[in-house]
Amino acid sequence: MLSIDRIAVDYDGVPAIHDITVRVPEGAIVAVVGSNGSGKTTMLKTAAGLLHPSKGTITFEGADISRTPAHEMPKMGIALVPEGRKLFGKMSVRRNLDMGAYTRTDRVEIERNLERVFRFFPRLSERLSQKAGTLSGGEMQMLAIGRAMMSNPRLLMLDEPSLGIAPNLMDRIFEVIADLNAKENLTILLVEQNVSEALSLAHFGYVIQTGRTVLSGTGKVLLDSDMVRKAFLGM
Ligand SMILES: Nc1ncnc2c1ncn2[C@@H]1O[C@H](COP(=O)(O)OP(=O)(O)OP(=O)(O)O)[C@@H](O)[C@H]1O
Ligand SMILES: [Mg+2]
Repeated sequence: MLSIDRIAVDYDGVPAIHDITVRVPEGAIVAVVGSNGSGKTTMLKTAAGLLHPSKGTITFEGADISRTPAHEMPKMGIALVPEGRKLFGKMSVRRNLDMGAYTRTDRVEIERNLERVFRFFPRLSERLSQKAGTLSGGEMQMLAIGRAMMSNPRLLMLDEPSLGIAPNLMDRIFEVIADLNAKENLTILLVEQNVSEALSLAHFGYVIQTGRTVLSGTGKVLLDSDMVRKAFLGM
C-alpha cells in the first residue's frame, strides 16, 4: 500500500535520513523502531508530505506521492498522528475532532465517523466541551488518534503514541491500534520507542539507525534477533 523506497531527506541541506526503505502492505501493522535521532519522525513527516525526499520515492497504492503536499494527504486516505500529539490546546475536544474532518463535506459520513471515534474512546464523548489542553496525557493521545480517524483514513501513521503515557493507559492505546487494524480494516505504520510492545503487535518491523534501514523482518523475528535484544531490550 505504502512504499518508502530508498529515500534521503535533508533539513536545509543537512542530511537527516540517508537511505530508508519501509514497505507497508495493505491490512498490515508495520512498526519502525530506532533510537533517538535515527530519523523516525522525519520519515513519517516525509510520508505525510510535510517534507519531501531529496532521493528515492514514496508511492501510495502505486501513485508517486514524493512531492504531494501534506494538505492533499487526507483526501488520498493517509493520516498522521504526530509526535507530541499537536492538539489545539485552547479548543474544545469537539472542535479538535471537527478539525480532523476539515477536508470533508459529507455530513452524514462525518457523523458516522464521530460515532466510531466515540465507540473507541467513550471518554472523549464525555468531555466534548473540555479544552484539549486540560486533558490527561492518555486522553490527549486518544483525541489525537480520534482526530486522525475523522478524516476516515485507510493508512494511519502514528509517531510514538505511547510516549508520556501511564502504563495502564499505554496498554489501552496498543489495544486500540490492534482493534483499528483488525476491526476497522486500517493499515498501520507505527513508530515506537516501546520496542517490545510495538514489535509484538506488528506483523512486520524495521530497525533504523542513523538514517538508514539496517534490519527488517516479521515482528517476531526482530524481537528474537540479537540486534534488537542488545540495542533495545537490554539483553
Ligand atoms: N526541524 C529540523 N531541523 C534540523 N534538523 C532536524 C529537524 N528535525 C530533526 N532534525 C534532525 O534530524 C535527525 C532525525 O531526527 P528525527 O526527529 O527524525 O529522529 P527520531 O528518530 O524521530 O528521534 P526521537 O526518537 O528522539 O523522536 C536528528 O539528527 C535531528 O536532530
Ligand atoms: Mg521522533
